[in-house]
Amino acid sequence: MSDPLSQLQSLQQRIEKVLDHYLALDDCGTARLREAMRYSALAGGKRLRPLLVYSTATSLGASLETVDAAAAAVELIHVYSLVHDDLPAMDNDDWRRGKPTCHRAFDEGTAMLAGDALQALAFKILAESCSDLSATQQLTMVRLLAQAAGTAGMAGGQAIDLESVGVTLDTAAVENMHRRKTGALIVGSVLLGAVGANVLHGRNYEALQQYAQAIGLAFQIQDDILDVEGDPQLLGKAVGVDAARRKPTYPGVAGVAAACARAVELRDQAVAALEPLGAAAHALTALAHYMVDRRN
Ligand code: IPE
Ligand code: IPE
Ligand code: MG
Ligand code: MG
Ligand code: MG
Repeated sequence: MSDPLSQLQSLQQRIEKVLDHYLALDDCGTARLREAMRYSALAGGKRLRPLLVYSTATSLGASLETVDAAAAAVELIHVYSLVHDDLPAMDNDDWRRGKPTCHRAFDEGTAMLAGDALQALAFKILAESCSDLSATQQLTMVRLLAQAAGTAGMAGGQAIDLESVGVTLDTAAVENMHRRKTGALIVGSVLLGAVGANVLHGRNYEALQQYAQAIGLAFQIQDDILDVEGDPQLLGKAVGVDAARRKPTYPGVAGVAAACARAVELRDQAVAALEPLGAAAHALTALAHYMVDRRN
């Protein structure tokens, strides 16, 4: 068996090809919209959510092919959320993944539409016929992704984020915001992988859900920490922007040291939750460590 890191690298290469395939976009209205979607979705990004989909599915014995569509769909939702998150009406950022943000490279209207179309494409991909999955599995995937992206998840969390500018939140309120705006899509990624393996409930499903809930929150706490002490070159985005925009963040309310301690605590909880899966979960364990130890 190859080591988890080289396995993860080969999964990264796989998702680049899968995304390129789904983003061929032969009929896209305008060439500009097509270019904006491809610009934001291809070449760049850690691809953590697809890695979680793949690693979960294979830990439960499913093939990679079975979850290619789910891995692409969740990344497209993530990219859409980044394109909109960077807009002047939200975080007003100029850099993303080491390149000018979508609205900077194109224009605001095109960036809004690129986000809209990326989201629609995600659901189209999931709904397309896939001989490896039953109709129940596909429908469950559509529901899980909608739940992760919508009011209960990313969009609802982003709404809290927008309304909280300049507001003093306590740590519980920050955690609630983070679980929604970022954690929900990470939970969705893991559960999509489980559904791909036809694991829709039971001990392993619950263990994976607990893993994902813990690591999803830890991931946004680490994102907040990197905004304070990260290297913009490595991150490919500006730092110090949360404080400048009076965004409530975990280090903002609790301090950097407490934020680091909380991220590590959650990472350890995530790894412990994988116990029922045994050695099959080694890639998920490696991912949990990477998601908290990362500098990019
Ligand atoms: C950044 O996500 C935004 C958050 C939800 C914290 P990532 O750190 O996964 O960004 P990419 O996909 O690697 O660019
Ligand atoms: C982003 O949170 C959460 C999303 C749902 C996109 P941030 O606003 O902190 O993400 P970055 O720091 O811009 O990547
Ligand atoms: Mg934001
Ligand atoms: Mg942002
Ligand atoms: Mg951030």
